Amino acid sequence: MGASMEIKSVFANDELLKLLESCDLLVSDISLSNALYFFGSYQDGRLVGVVGLERFGAVALLRSLAVSAELRGSGLGRKLVGFAESEAKSMGISDLFLLTDTAEQFFTKLSYQLLLRENAPAVIKNTAQFSTLCPATSSFMSKQL
Ligand SMILES: CC(C)(COP(=O)(O)OP(=O)(O)OC[C@H]1O[C@@H](n2cnc3c(N)ncnc32)[C@H](O)[C@@H]1OP(=O)(O)O)[C@@H](O)C(=O)NCCC(=O)NCCS
Repeated sequence: MGASMEIKSVFANDELLKLLESCDLLVSDISLSNALYFFGSYQDGRLVGVVGLERFGAVALLRSLAVSAELRGSGLGRKLVGFAESEAKSMGISDLFLLTDTAEQFFTKLSYQLLLRENAPAVIKNTAQFSTLCPATSSFMSKQL
């Protein structure tokens, strides 16, 4: 089951981009950023789950969370977020921010809180996701680590 799968650092290679695209997530800004970290989970040699951190000093955007459709509901999404949070913490990141069109309730369950976009730190406002790629109607959420 997904929940027992190991999670490790992964590169933003074609397999990762394809998984994100198959989950309708943005990939257009991925090669542009130089502070992106991805963590993934494999089943039978195939990447089935991924989560990313886009870091700006003590804050980061949690992004690119995707679980293969056939494995959803088994706890892998929760495990990936938990892994990214503990990696972020060990990197000295104190606050995570995210934008989502589809998973607000999922993140609420994981103790993320809704925030007004105007209250975003400047570095987060300047990200491509925040400023141009995600619609103004996307939920903006944060969690203190
Ligand atoms: C969002 C996503 C990553 C969740 O992954 P998952 O492996 O199915 O999630 P989990 O099994 O760990 O679910 C954890 C909890 O959230 C709930 N949940 C999962 N997806 C949810 C959603 N979209 N809305 C509301 N609740 C959700 C589960 O029921 C579970 O609740 P429980 O602990 O009370 O049983 C997955 O649905 C996905 O890849 N979606 C497409 C891409 C996407 O929307 N990514 C987020 C962009 S930021």
